[in-house]
Amino acid sequence: MDDVTRQQLILAAQEARAQAYATYSKFTVGAALLTTDGRLLRGCNVENRSLGLTQCAERVAVGNAVVEGYRDFQALAIASCTGVTPCGACRQVLAEFCEDLPILLVQEEPVSATREVSLRLLLPDRFGGTGAA
Ligand code: THU
Repeated sequence: MDDVTRQQLILAAQEARAQAYATYSKFTVGAALLTTDGRLLRGCNVENRSLGLTQCAERVAVGNAVVEGYRDFQALAIASCTGVTPCGACRQVLAEFCEDLPILLVQEEPVSATREVSLRLLLPDRFGGTGAA
């Protein structure tokens, strides 16, 4: 990923964050997936008054990508105020499609900063399935 693409990926996650529906927690999150052929698919968190129905930004991005016909990803950016890592459920959902994935954690407040981790680092020894599929 070149520098321009990296900046576009970060910007896409920041733009997605601006669309977050986080009316209960006020914790807005944006995610952007970069496909292997250079497309950007975005997601934001979508909360619900029945709190357990909340959808994380990362899983919304994965769903958006899949419905558009994309399943091969080269990077993910997640934008939030503090630069949080993806939750455990989102890690497993990402692992459905990627052996490994560079993940940019974009902190937006008080200053903008980006830290890079990887899916393999965040989810070692993932659930590999029952062998039935
Ligand atoms: N959230 C995400 O969107 N992604 C994560 O990986 C962790 C948490 C959202 C869910 C909820 O709307 C808010 O952040 C606070 O937990």
